[in-house]
Amino acid sequence: MQEFDSPFWSWYITILTVVSLIGVALFLLKQRTRKLAPGEKAELMENKWDGDLVELNNPLPSWWVNLFWITLIFSAAYLVLYPGLGSFKGTLGWTSFGEYDKEVDAAKAKYEPVFNQFMGQPVDQVAASAEARDMGQRLFLTYCSQCHGSDAAGAKGFPNLTDKDWLYGGDGETIKASIANGRAGMMPPMGAAVGGDQGVKEVANYVLSLSGSPHDAQLAAAGQAKFVACAACHGEDGKGNTMMGAPNLTDKTWLYGGSEATIMESINKGRSGNMPAQLQALGEAKVHILAAYVYGLGGGMPKAPEPAPEAAAPAEEAAPAPAAQ
Ligand code: HEC
Ligand code: HEC
Repeated sequence: MQEFDSPFWSWYITILTVVSLIGVALFLLKQRTRKLAPGEKAELMENKWDGDLVELNNPLPSWWVNLFWITLIFSAAYLVLYPGLGSFKGTLGWTSFGEYDKEVDAAKAKYEPVFNQFMGQPVDQVAASAEARDMGQRLFLTYCSQCHGSDAAGAKGFPNLTDKDWLYGGDGETIKASIANGRAGMMPPMGAAVGGDQGVKEVANYVLSLSGSPHDAQLAAAGQAKFVACAACHGEDGKGNTMMGAPNLTDKTWLYGGSEATIMESINKGRSGNMPAQLQALGEAKVHILAAYVYGLGGGMPKAPEPAPEAAAPAEEAAPAPAAQ
């Protein structure tokens, strides 16, 4: 009622409402004053329906009239206290927005400490808490399962979060950053860079050979030299690069698929998976719990020592076995 841009409708509603209330009150008063004199009989009115249904001019029964007065007084009191008369806000200052804000504040006061209790602990430690895991699972089912699946095992283009094959990294802080800020993997179409259809087929077979998948050795040998076009992102050895989310091509875990046709499609069209940022919508406490949940699904691993890439391998083996995929 506060959004009218001219005062006309506000007054229209106010006057109409007040005049009707007063009108009804006057009508009741008028009816109340006509009483039957002692001994007087109610007169039969003219009309007769359905053969024997007649109308008398009895005064209204007083219980009915009193009920009417009560509703009138209630309406008047309501319209003084609450918004209802045009743009008049009511003396209590109640608004539906205020009501909503109050409910949200109450829910926050109730649940925020529950979510916040884990903020001080590192992600891998939170992952060990059964309570955090339960909360994380509920959050995951609400906010993440539509893309990653309710079992977090992913789908074509949506990474499996339960294995140790990470696009960006599987330590607690990196998982948290993936969730908080989102990720945008970006592989441009590479067909032209490797010399068209034949070149694509050759590189695709070289990619297949990297993971020991069935391939044509001759094509793969021809493709090896062309892989330089890919090395900037996937690494010379094809093991990928977590800085840009370029997948490891030497394992049998595929984001889009490991058939020759699908690999050729990846090369020809490029790929650009997009993970939406969650920090703003969920807040840090929930992101923290989600990171711990994902970490605890089986793929979480301690942060690898920075410069030595060989150190990553033993750390990987020390962690619990990944879910089969
Ligand atoms: C709209 C779909 C979508 C939703 C919703 C979504 N994700 Fe993702 N997520 C993706 C895609 C796609 C990628 C891969 C991005 C890429 O290809 O670079 C990804 C990547 C990730 C990664 C990095 C994986 C790796 O291998 O490094 C994590 C962790 C992750 N998501 C967790 C979550 C969590 C937790 C949620 C819920 C809060 C979530 N995602 C919601 C689509 C989604
Ligand atoms: C600019 C960096 C970049 C270059 C250059 C590049 N890639 Fe990629 N590639 C990526 C990224 C990033 C992804 C993951 C895309 C995503 O997350 O959606 C990817 C995905 C792929 C995939 C899909 C892997 C899967 O698991 O399904 C294949 C196959 C692939 N690249 C092969 C190649 C080949 C072959 C070349 C060279 C001809 C190449 N890429 C060049 C960055 C690159």
